[in-house]
Amino acid sequence: MSVHTDPASDSPPASPIENASADLARRTAQGADRRANPYLDHWRRMLDHQRGHGALMPAILGEREQPNEYCLTCLERGIKWQEQTGGERKGAQKQYSWAIPDEDALSTIARFSPAGLVEIGAGGGYWAWMLRNRGVDVIAYDPAPLHSDWHSGKPWTEVLYGDHTSVIGHADRTLLLVWPSYDDPWPAQCLELYDGNTVIYVGEGHGGCTADDRFHVLLGDDVSGLRLAERVGRVGYVSVSAR
Ligand SMILES: C[S@@+](CC[C@H](N)C(=O)[O-])C[C@H]1O[C@@H](n2cnc3c(N)ncnc32)[C@H](O)[C@@H]1O
Repeated sequence: MSVHTDPASDSPPASPIENASADLARRTAQGADRRANPYLDHWRRMLDHQRGHGALMPAILGEREQPNEYCLTCLERGIKWQEQTGGERKGAQKQYSWAIPDEDALSTIARFSPAGLVEIGAGGGYWAWMLRNRGVDVIAYDPAPLHSDWHSGKPWTEVLYGDHTSVIGHADRTLLLVWPSYDDPWPAQCLELYDGNTVIYVGEGHGGCTADDRFHVLLGDDVSGLRLAERVGRVGYVSVSAR
Protein backbone atom coordinates (compact mmCIF):
# COMPACT_ATOMS: atom_id res chain seq x y z
CA MET A 1 0.00 0.00 0.00
CA SER A 2 1.38 3.40 -0.88
CA VAL A 3 1.54 6.11 1.76
CA HIS A 4 1.65 8.83 -0.85
CA THR A 5 -1.41 11.00 -0.75
CA ASP A 6 -4.39 9.75 -2.67
CA PRO A 7 -6.35 12.84 -3.76
CA ALA A 8 -9.60 10.89 -3.30
CA SER A 9 -8.82 9.89 0.28
CA ASP A 10 -9.67 11.83 3.45
CA SER A 11 -6.47 10.85 5.22
CA PRO A 12 -3.97 13.63 5.90
CA PRO A 13 -0.92 13.87 3.66
CA ALA A 14 2.02 11.75 4.78
CA SER A 15 4.86 13.68 6.38
CA PRO A 16 8.30 13.64 4.70
CA ILE A 17 9.50 11.26 7.42
CA GLU A 18 6.59 8.85 6.81
CA ASN A 19 7.25 8.99 3.09
CA ALA A 20 10.95 8.36 3.65
CA SER A 21 10.40 5.38 5.93
CA ALA A 22 7.80 3.86 3.61
CA ASP A 23 10.25 4.28 0.78
CA LEU A 24 12.99 2.64 2.79
CA ALA A 25 10.72 -0.31 3.68
CA ARG A 26 9.81 -0.73 0.02
CA ARG A 27 13.44 -0.72 -1.05
CA THR A 28 14.39 -3.16 1.69
CA ALA A 29 11.58 -5.48 0.60
CA GLN A 30 12.82 -5.19 -2.95
CA GLY A 31 16.36 -5.83 -1.79
CA ALA A 32 16.46 -9.35 -3.14
CA ASP A 33 19.03 -8.31 -5.72
CA ARG A 34 21.87 -7.15 -3.53
CA ARG A 35 24.01 -6.34 -6.55
CA ALA A 36 21.44 -3.90 -7.95
CA ASN A 37 22.87 -0.53 -8.95
CA PRO A 38 19.92 1.45 -10.31
CA TYR A 39 21.99 4.63 -10.66
CA LEU A 40 24.54 2.95 -12.89
CA ASP A 41 21.67 1.48 -14.92
CA HIS A 42 20.13 4.95 -15.24
CA TRP A 43 23.47 6.47 -16.30
CA ARG A 44 24.00 3.78 -18.94
CA ARG A 45 20.48 4.34 -20.30
CA MET A 46 21.25 8.05 -20.63
CA LEU A 47 24.57 7.32 -22.34
CA ASP A 48 23.02 4.84 -24.77
CA HIS A 49 20.10 7.12 -25.55
CA GLN A 50 22.22 10.22 -26.15
CA ARG A 51 24.89 8.29 -28.04
CA GLY A 52 22.17 6.92 -30.31
CA HIS A 53 20.99 10.48 -30.93
CA GLY A 54 24.52 11.85 -31.45
CA ALA A 55 23.97 14.11 -28.44
CA LEU A 56 26.70 13.12 -26.00
CA MET A 57 29.16 15.69 -24.70
CA PRO A 58 32.48 14.88 -26.36
CA ALA A 59 35.30 13.41 -24.30
CA ILE A 60 37.62 16.30 -23.43
CA LEU A 61 40.59 16.82 -21.14
CA GLY A 62 41.00 13.12 -20.59
CA GLU A 63 37.46 12.73 -19.30
CA ARG A 64 34.99 10.20 -20.57
CA GLU A 65 32.04 11.04 -22.75
CA GLN A 66 29.29 12.52 -20.60
CA PRO A 67 25.57 12.76 -21.17
CA ASN A 68 24.18 16.28 -21.36
CA GLU A 69 21.64 17.32 -18.79
CA TYR A 70 18.92 16.34 -21.27
CA CYS A 71 19.06 14.86 -24.77
CA LEU A 72 19.57 17.92 -26.94
CA THR A 73 18.44 16.09 -30.07
CA CYS A 74 15.12 15.26 -28.41
CA LEU A 75 14.73 18.86 -27.30
CA GLU A 76 15.34 20.06 -30.87
CA ARG A 77 12.60 17.69 -31.97
CA GLY A 78 10.25 19.24 -29.43
CA ILE A 79 10.27 16.23 -27.08
CA LYS A 80 10.18 17.49 -23.50
CA TRP A 81 12.88 16.08 -21.24
CA GLN A 82 10.22 14.48 -19.03
CA GLU A 83 9.24 12.33 -22.02
CA GLN A 84 12.77 11.43 -23.07
CA THR A 85 13.52 7.77 -22.67
CA GLY A 86 17.10 8.52 -21.61
CA GLY A 87 15.97 10.41 -18.54
CA GLU A 88 17.67 13.49 -17.15
CA ARG A 89 20.85 14.01 -15.23
CA LYS A 90 20.58 16.53 -12.42
CA GLY A 91 17.46 14.96 -10.91
CA ALA A 92 19.27 11.62 -10.91
CA GLN A 93 22.11 13.20 -8.97
CA LYS A 94 19.65 14.31 -6.31
CA GLN A 95 17.75 11.04 -6.28
CA TYR A 96 20.82 8.76 -6.12
CA SER A 97 24.15 10.40 -5.43
CA TRP A 98 26.72 12.86 -6.74
CA ALA A 99 29.05 10.07 -7.77
CA ILE A 100 28.20 6.75 -9.37
CA PRO A 101 29.57 3.67 -7.65
CA ASP A 102 30.68 0.70 -9.68
CA GLU A 103 31.83 -2.73 -8.48
CA ASP A 104 35.54 -1.79 -8.61
CA ALA A 105 34.98 1.25 -6.44
CA LEU A 106 32.82 -0.69 -3.99
CA SER A 107 35.18 -3.64 -3.68
CA THR A 108 38.15 -1.28 -3.19
CA ILE A 109 36.29 0.50 -0.41
CA ALA A 110 35.34 -2.82 1.21
CA ARG A 111 38.93 -4.04 1.02
CA PHE A 112 40.29 -0.98 2.84
CA SER A 113 37.59 -1.10 5.54
CA PRO A 114 38.40 -4.18 7.64
CA ALA A 115 36.62 -2.70 10.71
CA GLY A 116 33.83 -1.05 8.73
CA LEU A 117 33.22 2.53 7.65
CA VAL A 118 32.04 5.80 9.03
CA GLU A 119 30.61 7.84 6.17
CA ILE A 120 30.27 11.60 6.68
CA GLY A 121 28.13 13.77 4.38
CA ALA A 122 26.36 10.62 3.18
CA GLY A 123 23.38 12.51 1.69
CA GLY A 124 20.55 10.08 0.98
CA GLY A 125 22.83 7.11 1.67
CA TYR A 126 23.12 5.60 -1.82
CA TRP A 127 26.79 4.56 -1.33
CA ALA A 128 26.09 3.33 2.21
CA TRP A 129 23.18 1.28 0.85
CA MET A 130 25.31 -0.29 -1.85
CA LEU A 131 28.09 -1.08 0.60
CA ARG A 132 25.71 -2.53 3.18
CA ASN A 133 24.21 -4.69 0.44
CA ARG A 134 27.71 -6.07 -0.04
CA GLY A 135 28.13 -6.86 3.65
CA VAL A 136 30.17 -3.83 4.70
CA ASP A 137 29.40 -2.42 8.16
CA VAL A 138 28.66 1.30 7.62
CA ILE A 139 27.63 4.05 10.02
CA ALA A 140 26.43 6.94 7.86
CA TYR A 141 25.81 10.57 8.89
CA ASP A 142 24.49 13.68 7.20
CA PRO A 143 23.19 16.93 8.70
CA ALA A 144 20.14 16.69 6.40
CA PRO A 145 19.54 13.02 5.55
CA LEU A 146 15.92 13.49 4.53
CA HIS A 147 16.04 16.56 2.36
CA SER A 148 18.48 19.20 1.20
CA ASP A 149 19.52 21.10 -1.90
CA TRP A 150 21.80 18.14 -2.66
CA HIS A 151 19.40 15.25 -2.54
CA SER A 152 15.73 14.58 -2.91
CA GLY A 153 14.83 13.36 0.54
CA LYS A 154 14.33 9.68 -0.15
CA PRO A 155 17.02 7.91 1.85
CA TRP A 156 18.27 4.62 0.47
CA THR A 157 19.22 3.29 3.86
CA GLU A 158 19.59 4.52 7.42
CA VAL A 159 21.52 7.78 7.55
CA LEU A 160 21.87 9.32 11.01
CA TYR A 161 21.62 13.03 11.66
CA GLY A 162 25.11 14.42 12.19
CA ASP A 163 27.65 16.78 10.72
CA HIS A 164 31.43 16.37 10.29
CA THR A 165 31.98 16.31 14.07
CA SER A 166 30.20 12.93 14.15
CA VAL A 167 33.49 11.40 13.01
CA ILE A 168 34.76 11.78 16.58
CA GLY A 169 34.76 8.42 18.35
CA HIS A 170 34.99 6.36 15.15
CA ALA A 171 38.78 6.05 14.90
CA ASP A 172 38.46 2.27 14.56
CA ARG A 173 36.64 2.64 11.23
CA THR A 174 37.79 3.78 7.81
CA LEU A 175 36.47 7.26 7.00
CA LEU A 176 34.49 7.57 3.74
CA LEU A 177 33.75 10.93 2.09
CA VAL A 178 31.84 10.88 -1.18
CA TRP A 179 31.65 14.13 -3.16
CA PRO A 180 32.08 16.43 -0.12
CA SER A 181 30.64 19.88 -0.78
CA TYR A 182 32.70 22.18 -2.98
CA ASP A 183 34.74 24.95 -1.35
CA ASP A 184 33.32 24.19 2.07
CA PRO A 185 35.58 24.00 5.14
CA TRP A 186 33.87 20.98 6.71
CA PRO A 187 35.65 18.21 4.74
CA ALA A 188 39.08 19.48 5.88
CA GLN A 189 37.78 19.90 9.44
CA CYS A 190 36.50 16.35 9.31
CA LEU A 191 39.96 15.06 8.32
CA GLU A 192 41.45 16.93 11.27
CA LEU A 193 38.92 15.46 13.69
CA TYR A 194 39.39 11.89 12.46
CA ASP A 195 41.82 9.87 14.58
CA GLY A 196 41.80 6.71 12.49
CA ASN A 197 44.21 5.31 9.92
CA THR A 198 42.48 5.28 6.56
CA VAL A 199 40.48 7.82 4.57
CA ILE A 200 38.66 6.95 1.38
CA TYR A 201 37.70 9.93 -0.69
CA VAL A 202 35.54 9.85 -3.81
CA GLY A 203 35.58 13.05 -5.75
CA GLU A 204 37.57 15.22 -8.11
CA GLY A 205 41.27 15.92 -7.82
CA HIS A 206 42.92 19.03 -6.38
CA GLY A 207 41.36 22.11 -8.01
CA GLY A 208 38.19 20.19 -8.89
CA CYS A 209 34.64 20.71 -7.71
CA THR A 210 34.81 18.82 -4.42
CA ALA A 211 36.00 20.07 -1.00
CA ASP A 212 38.58 22.85 -0.80
CA ASP A 213 42.33 23.28 -1.31
CA ARG A 214 43.14 22.68 2.35
CA PHE A 215 41.32 19.34 2.20
CA HIS A 216 43.41 18.16 -0.75
CA VAL A 217 46.63 19.14 1.01
CA LEU A 218 45.56 17.33 4.20
CA LEU A 219 44.36 14.26 2.30
CA GLY A 220 47.84 13.30 1.23
CA ASP A 221 48.80 10.73 -1.36
CA ASP A 222 46.80 7.85 -2.63
CA VAL A 223 48.28 4.63 -1.27
CA SER A 224 46.04 2.15 -3.04
CA GLY A 225 47.82 2.60 -6.35
CA LEU A 226 44.40 2.20 -7.89
CA ARG A 227 43.01 5.66 -8.56
CA LEU A 228 39.92 4.41 -10.27
CA ALA A 229 40.08 7.32 -12.64
CA GLU A 230 36.85 8.16 -14.42
CA ARG A 231 35.68 4.60 -14.45
CA VAL A 232 32.07 5.56 -14.50
CA GLY A 233 30.42 8.88 -14.99
CA ARG A 234 31.31 11.31 -12.29
CA VAL A 235 33.50 9.16 -10.13
CA GLY A 236 36.49 11.49 -10.24
CA TYR A 237 38.61 8.95 -8.47
CA VAL A 238 38.61 6.81 -5.39
CA SER A 239 41.61 7.64 -3.27
CA VAL A 240 42.77 5.73 -0.22
CA SER A 241 45.07 7.68 2.09
CA ALA A 242 47.01 6.40 5.07
CA ARG A 243 47.12 8.86 7.95
C1 LIG B 1 27.45 17.20 -2.75
S1 LIG B 1 26.53 16.47 -1.44
C2 LIG B 1 27.09 14.78 -1.50
C3 LIG B 1 26.18 13.87 -0.78
C4 LIG B 1 26.50 12.37 -0.94
N1 LIG B 1 27.79 12.03 -0.40
C5 LIG B 1 26.41 11.98 -2.39
O1 LIG B 1 27.42 11.61 -2.99
O2 LIG B 1 25.31 12.08 -2.94
C6 LIG B 1 27.32 17.10 0.00
C7 LIG B 1 26.72 16.61 1.32
O3 LIG B 1 27.43 17.22 2.40
C8 LIG B 1 26.52 17.40 3.45
N2 LIG B 1 27.05 18.40 4.40
C9 LIG B 1 26.92 19.74 4.38
N3 LIG B 1 27.52 20.29 5.45
C10 LIG B 1 28.07 19.27 6.16
C11 LIG B 1 28.81 19.19 7.37
N4 LIG B 1 29.14 20.27 8.08
N5 LIG B 1 29.18 17.96 7.81
C12 LIG B 1 28.86 16.84 7.11
N6 LIG B 1 28.16 16.87 5.95
C13 LIG B 1 27.77 18.07 5.48
C14 LIG B 1 25.25 17.85 2.76
O4 LIG B 1 24.09 17.69 3.57
C15 LIG B 1 25.25 16.96 1.53
O5 LIG B 1 24.50 15.78 1.74
